[in-house]
Amino acid sequence: MRIAVLTGGGDAAGLNAAIRSVGRHALRGGDEIVGVINGWAGLMGSGETRPLDEAAFLGALRQGGTLLGSSRTNPLRIEDGIAQVEAAMETQGIEALVAIGGDDTLSVAARLAEHGANVVGLPKTVDFDLAVTEYCIGFDSAVAIVTESLDRLHTTAASHHRVMVCEVMGRDTGWLAVMGGIAGGADLCLIPEFPLHLDEVVAQIARRDAEGKTSSIVVVAEGAEIGGLVAEADGPTDAFGHVNLARRALAERLADAIESATSHDTRATVLGHVQRGGSPVARDRIWPSRLGVAAVDAIRSGVSGVCAAVVGDQACLVPLADMVAEQKRVPESLYRVFTDLS
Ligand code: F6P
Repeated sequence: MRIAVLTGGGDAAGLNAAIRSVGRHALRGGDEIVGVINGWAGLMGSGETRPLDEAAFLGALRQGGTLLGSSRTNPLRIEDGIAQVEAAMETQGIEALVAIGGDDTLSVAARLAEHGANVVGLPKTVDFDLAVTEYCIGFDSAVAIVTESLDRLHTTAASHHRVMVCEVMGRDTGWLAVMGGIAGGADLCLIPEFPLHLDEVVAQIARRDAEGKTSSIVVVAEGAEIGGLVAEADGPTDAFGHVNLARRALAERLADAIESATSHDTRATVLGHVQRGGSPVARDRIWPSRLGVAAVDAIRSGVSGVCAAVVGDQACLVPLADMVAEQKRVPESLYRVFTDLS
């Protein structure tokens, strides 16, 4: 069988481990494997793919990014987009497709499956907001970077008795902020799920001052709303309708507001795409390897419209539609772990 693999949306550490797993498992079972270039953009028009052989995967396990390239091209927003994908699959002789991505990419995969295409998904997002699965490619590596960054901010904050605001990714959900905040011992955590007012942020820093704590680390998700602080995103949207949240300058605005309301010198750090770059941690090599094998096995057994996922610490298959039905949000119990310990 001729199987294609595609990576869509933002890159993340561990994508190459997934591509390698899908590719090697396919090849070793006697299937043919091709890579789709630049996500769904590579299945527009007549399509753009390249054959993958054993040599293509050498060193891939530890490499960041995606060796196939990615894009935010959205066939659902292009007239005849799904028909174009189906036609390109036909032209390229693709009999089955493994689509690796977050909710945007997997929504396209789900629609294709509804149209009868042979498609299996793999979950990837540093935002960690896909429903059902306990694991998403790239999240653990990103948490490790947030953790190390907060560790580093602690020492400089303490030396200068400063408040350090650290903005992390998380468009609609605060998983990176809360997990990184727990691991890195942040003092305040601002996330979309549990909005705080600026007055409360200032009051918490004042409480810390009263306790003799002369520095504070504030971790903030890029998508957080902070009452009393104006931080609007504007500018162009991508093909999935998302504005570039970096334009909100949230960390800078928050740092300025904290500095004006307290006696603290305050600095802002935006981790940005550093969180998505570089080598994957071990979990972002092991799970992509396991899920890639599960995806190819699903294709071989004739299953389509599913996504390989981790549930109960086991690799399993769940309907693609369920993966994208809703966003997984930080539960109060997890947020409370942060607030109780900070
Ligand atoms: O797709 C997840 C994400 O990393 C978000 O957290 C972030 O807002 C966005 O991608 C950034 O996208 P881009 O790489 O297109 O600037």
